[in-house]
Amino acid sequence: MNNNIILFAGRANPGLAKAIAQDLNIPLGNCTAQQFPDGEVTVQLQESVRQKSVFIVQSTSPPVNDHLMELLAFADACRRAAARQITAIIPYFGYARADKRHGCHEPITASMVAEIMQTVGIDRVITLDLHAPQIEGFFRIPVDSLSAVSILGETLRDRLPADVVVVSPDTGRVSMATDYAQILDTSVVVVHKQRQSGTQTQVTRIVGEVRDRPCLIIDDLISTGGTIAKTVDALLDAGARPEITVAVTHGLFIQDARQQLSHDSIQQILATDTISINAENWSQLQIVSVAPLIAQMIRKDE
Ligand code: R5P
Repeated sequence: MNNNIILFAGRANPGLAKAIAQDLNIPLGNCTAQQFPDGEVTVQLQESVRQKSVFIVQSTSPPVNDHLMELLAFADACRRAAARQITAIIPYFGYARADKRHGCHEPITASMVAEIMQTVGIDRVITLDLHAPQIEGFFRIPVDSLSAVSILGETLRDRLPADVVVVSPDTGRVSMATDYAQILDTSVVVVHKQRQSGTQTQVTRIVGEVRDRPCLIIDDLISTGGTIAKTVDALLDAGARPEITVAVTHGLFIQDARQQLSHDSIQQILATDTISINAENWSQLQIVSVAPLIAQMIRKDE
């Protein structure tokens, strides 16, 4: 591997960063990141980045603002130390759901975050399954938007019954569901939901036939687990077989998500390592690594 490349790990994804470095057969760059007692974040690069192509692995996952700030501090340190190019690898892009205004008194925070990243000197972004693909348009720098659908779909291919249907839990995920359905050679069902608040949604109707069929519910992310839990209830009410698999790219699993998902009908949950997940004693959950996808993208720079 080109020795003009340095890969730094922020504190959000140490495991994923290590797996990417192993795939590339390079050591991780030496650095430290820490928080002062008042909450301020600081980082220190412990090797030269002068004229090097720097990659910083940092999801802006919870604690979102701390991880975001740490990424910005990394980028600032690299720019001031004369890095040739700074690529932020943001496997999970926090604030992606704030991609539009719902009224004239709201910010578009995803756009604001993109502006700040460019201001501190980030030259390029690599990310996965953005909540809304148009977020790429908030950047003037190149954004390589990868997808975990192929890895998750291939992992599931031999595990699911032939009559499985792919369920999109809302209209925003139909395109992703169609990609899964193509890999699994099956059809798509769409659940219409209405958002009642930032945390509450209600299923209004199901478009497509689920009676006596096992279901694969897909989504870009699970946060509190509410969307999936309600989708499972709606599918069972519509006569689906109680054989449900869930596949998501980003498993935030916050609050009581694990409890919400401990439904008898959910046989397996697949999520990737874009977010560090504590899967201890959680036999339902399988983590699939996206490290090979990201490493492949970095290799293109050689
Ligand atoms: C919504 O549009 C997203 O794609 C997810 O379905 C949603 O954000 C998941 O959140 P939760 O797990 O809290 O229902």
